[in-house]
Amino acid sequence: MHTRLRTGERTITPPQTADADLWFIGRIHTPWTAREDCPRQGGLDGPECRIEVFAPWQAALEGIAAYGHLEILYWLDRARRDLVRQNPKSDGAHFFGTFALRSPQRPNPIGTSQVRLIRVEGTTLIVRGLDCLDGTPLIDIKPDRCEFTPKAGAKPSDPQRQS
Ligand SMILES: C[S@@+](CC[C@H](N)C(=O)[O-])C[C@H]1O[C@@H](n2cnc3c(N)ncnc32)[C@H](O)[C@@H]1O
Repeated sequence: MHTRLRTGERTITPPQTADADLWFIGRIHTPWTAREDCPRQGGLDGPECRIEVFAPWQAALEGIAAYGHLEILYWLDRARRDLVRQNPKSDGAHFFGTFALRSPQRPNPIGTSQVRLIRVEGTTLIVRGLDCLDGTPLIDIKPDRCEFTPKAGAKPSDPQRQS
């Protein structure tokens, strides 16, 4: 399951207990079953992928079809979580701390992609723009930042919107 360490990469011993837990709210279906076939970052012209939302969360999809783009958060379940110094090119020369990378190997392996919403079929969203392996667990869906206007009204502390 763990990716092999490259020369010079560093791991830490992770904490023994978790600080929070989460629920997988669905599963993502993509054409990619091997990491080497997956794009490094999804593109809006990428292949259609299916985001299956589990039945208990069906009502949470109300209003989603109004958006052309969504932010998808997923759990990179096949990543290692103890890597702090990485050598992404495998060249033994260029090293980066995990937080300076968008690598899947990170303490909380959360992936995010901006996707284009193609259509909604019941509790399944058909989208383009993902970069994860087939079967990756879904952890959240949010409307695209630019298309979204707060539904709860402004707060005095909100910055003025530019027209
Ligand atoms: C570089 S990450 C970027 C993820 C996301 N777009 C982001 O920026 O947060 C994408 C890579 O993660 C790897 N990957 C995809 N799905 C994965 C999974 N379920 N578990 C572990 N690694 C995964 C693949 O190698 C893929 O090319």
